[in-house]
Amino acid sequence: MSFLSKTLDRVKPSPTIAVTTLAGELKAKGMDVIGLGAGEPDFDTPQNIKDAAVAAIAAGKTKYTAPDGIPELKQAICDKLKRDNGLEYTPAQISVGTGGKQTLYNAFMATLNEGDEVIIPAPYWVSYPDMVLLGGGTPVAVEATLENNFKITAEQLEAAITPKTKWFIFNSPSNPTGAGYSADELKKLTDVLLKHPHVWIMTDDMYEHLAYDDFKFATPAEVEPKLYDRTLTCNGVSKAYAMTGWRIGYAAGPENVIKAMRKVQSQSTSNPCSISQWAAVEALNGTQHFLPEHNVVFKRRRDMVVDMLNAIDGVTCPTPEGAFYVYPNIAGLIGKTTPKGTVIENDEAFSTALLEDTGVAVVFGAAFGLSPNFRVSYATSDDNLKEACTRIQTFCAALS
Ligand SMILES: Cc1ncc(COP(=O)(O)O)c(C=O)c1O
Repeated sequence: MSFLSKTLDRVKPSPTIAVTTLAGELKAKGMDVIGLGAGEPDFDTPQNIKDAAVAAIAAGKTKYTAPDGIPELKQAICDKLKRDNGLEYTPAQISVGTGGKQTLYNAFMATLNEGDEVIIPAPYWVSYPDMVLLGGGTPVAVEATLENNFKITAEQLEAAITPKTKWFIFNSPSNPTGAGYSADELKKLTDVLLKHPHVWIMTDDMYEHLAYDDFKFATPAEVEPKLYDRTLTCNGVSKAYAMTGWRIGYAAGPENVIKAMRKVQSQSTSNPCSISQWAAVEALNGTQHFLPEHNVVFKRRRDMVVDMLNAIDGVTCPTPEGAFYVYPNIAGLIGKTTPKGTVIENDEAFSTALLEDTGVAVVFGAAFGLSPNFRVSYATSDDNLKEACTRIQTFCAALS
């Protein structure tokens, strides 16, 4: 019998690791690699946030904290939820975790039992299904289509619900597609959930502030207040405030779930880093002026990438509402052959050949549960993006 936990047999190794490893190897060999795989802003953490962390260190705020966050951060989160989302929460309804990822993980560990089903719209952030599996649950993917701009319909949600459904995970704007549901589109989904009182909603609002054009972010408990008692609203400072390394995420929801999440956290990491928590207080309470400034840059990059990818025969790339990803479909390239003789059998073969032949690293769609596609993160410089898209154009033009 293996020494290792059987639970791990349920979880697949990260499908993105192969691409990342290959990119690293090629770089080490001297190839000019452009990485479009990173899920983090290329901006630095704003200075006022860094200053708050330095001040916290100087003031000796360097000890254990309450497992699920300092009162000042919980209050800042309540104020943020009221200010931005019109949602009323008390500090007892808030859980702070080591990144958005740990917050979601705690929520699954605190609530899932063997056989519980979790509905996950595909394409999805790679961690959702594996976290559900680690918690003993069963992920149920519902495929959004290119035709519907990577959003699922009310009918699809209705059809996926069974007596075993525990959670519906909602992520808008989405990783990996950038698709964002308007309040009207979201209302159609919340109307379905109203009919099924046993289903709870875990909404991952991580990309809330990364929204472009006239898209207005909406979150389930705001759109349908009747769902407030069975909604866990999750968010974090990683993406909006360029704080991926600081590891602070949070959830707001019913007190019994928050308490159970605290129990999980108290026996794993004890508490999120004290200094990062003080930095997050400043992120949420301090100036927000850089958010629209960053968005001007992101929108410009999105438009350039979408235009350059759509100019390729065989590629269709919808213009997403938010986040910093695009998810082009490559159905028109499947079955073609590269000049070196590699057949593009699927999106993984495409991304491997693209990397080996041109040095552009993207993540293939199968990793996110919807093919044939690939994900581009445009959280890198305009010059890098232009060069990378030019290489993708040349690579695709040479396919026969
Ligand atoms: C949709 C989504 N949720 C959550 C996270 C996790 O964020 P954090 O870095 O705060 O753990 C990510 C990070 O890539 C994400 O894309």
